[in-house]
Amino acid sequence: MEKKKFYLTTPLYYVNDVPHIGHAYTTVAADVLARYKKMKGEEVFFLTGTDEHGQKVDDAAKLTGRSTQEYVDSIVERYKKAWKILNISYDDFIRTTEPRHVKVVQEIFEKLRKSGDIYPGEYEGWYCRPCETYWAEFQLQEKAANPKDYKCLTCGRPVEKLKEKTYFFKQEKYQNRLLKHIKDNPDFIQPASRCNEIVSFINQGLKDLSITRTTFSWGVPVPGEPGHVIYVWFDALINYISALGYPNGEKFEKYWPADVHIMGKEIVRFHAITWPCMLMALGIELPRKIFGHGWWTVEGEKMSKSLGNVVDPLRLSNDYGVDAVRYFLMREVFFGDDGNFSIESFKNRFNADLANDLGNLVHRTLTMIEKYFAGVVPEFPKNMDRVPKQQQGQSTHITEVADATIGLIETPMKDLRFSDALESIWKLINVSNKYIETEAPWKIEKAGEKDRLREVIFNLVYAIRIVAVLIYPFMPATAESIVKQLGLQGPDKFSLGTNIANIKVAKGNPLFPRLEKK
Ligand code: MSP
Repeated sequence: MEKKKFYLTTPLYYVNDVPHIGHAYTTVAADVLARYKKMKGEEVFFLTGTDEHGQKVDDAAKLTGRSTQEYVDSIVERYKKAWKILNISYDDFIRTTEPRHVKVVQEIFEKLRKSGDIYPGEYEGWYCRPCETYWAEFQLQEKAANPKDYKCLTCGRPVEKLKEKTYFFKQEKYQNRLLKHIKDNPDFIQPASRCNEIVSFINQGLKDLSITRTTFSWGVPVPGEPGHVIYVWFDALINYISALGYPNGEKFEKYWPADVHIMGKEIVRFHAITWPCMLMALGIELPRKIFGHGWWTVEGEKMSKSLGNVVDPLRLSNDYGVDAVRYFLMREVFFGDDGNFSIESFKNRFNADLANDLGNLVHRTLTMIEKYFAGVVPEFPKNMDRVPKQQQGQSTHITEVADATIGLIETPMKDLRFSDALESIWKLINVSNKYIETEAPWKIEKAGEKDRLREVIFNLVYAIRIVAVLIYPFMPATAESIVKQLGLQGPDKFSLGTNIANIKVAKGNPLFPRLEKK
């Protein structure tokens, strides 16, 4: 049977600055989903990369005194290094300055100019340079009466007036088709609250989009039009198909349409309006889902360089471990909602969920295997199979919860409800810890009930192995460490069908040593 394909993307990150926790958030979420789908045997293509053109990047480079190319090359390395440390399993990393991308952007421009969807004109209006976003006067007027006070509706910084010759993309023409598509496909824009925002935005009336600039040169040149470069968003969105080798690539045939574009809420508008209009103009199928997650504040404040509160994911990983960071980001906040990062809540989760719940479960179980069974996982006692389920009480309960958890996380994972999936996994961990308390294997051992002891320890290993498999997408290194400690090796170590009895365990240090409160 042909494998199911799954194509997912992160936004391309601007290279005007090094990666911070917000960028890591989008990327870790995509990685969790990619790993989960790969684990389920789907053929996954996970794309990330960098957005390197535009005035903002050019401005940032100028401040360093280096050439823009040299500057962007250095920041791209910082991104690649960050994703390596955070264990991001991307399949391709695309840079918008790469010839394979520039070529496709120019071809698309030409194609749409020929078809009449791109036409020349003059743009006079407002622009936010940090967000690389155009705003219509009526939108800015909602917040300020005086043009001197106009502020970007995304970031709140002052906008500037632009007047230049430009090419427009006929976005307006696709307004009704887009609205119909959104209505017919309730999953297209997720979560639903973002969908409502987009629909009301479209209902105010789409305007044709200015897609070339003449006031700077750091961009994809417009073919046959010296002095014009292509607007950074028009350029960057194309990455989702240029990376697949559009128009002819084998990968394009295989993976398009994208199953999900993951991004933060502030850029849903480009993905849910401009991008689908571009695809309709090109006659290409639309992506299946656009998911806009929420934003992190830090200790209650907006994260910003000027406030000096930018959280560095690498420093955090260095101090507390990569998997603790990945876990916290996916567990603390419902994916889609805004959240707050504080070192106190980070440490609380670390101690409660990781050190106490998960770490202790594994460590205590392995210690008992060493103590009572010379480090070899016992077999489930044969005669226990014949004990009616009702009389097995707690014992069947833990393995039933374990088996059920596998199915329980499917829907949340499909819907990108990562914190819900983790919550179900943690229920299993807690049931297992409680099982140790209520069964009290040390008492069973004292009473000399060897079979019961085998049964309890076997059940614990059974549950822990399922925990390891289920946390793998979230915490790959921890999952690896657990299966290794259980003595499982080889390509089937994560396969739930693999035998777990009679294997010599290799207990390691506690997975998450408790952090002391300073
Ligand atoms: N270059 C555009 C995207 C082009 S895609 C064709 C861009 N880049 S960005 O560098 O600004 O990064 C965007 C990603 O980082 C978004 O998903 C955004 O939501 C995420 N975050 C940046 N700061 C964030 C927080 N404080 N919190 C959560 N995520 C945020 O936009």
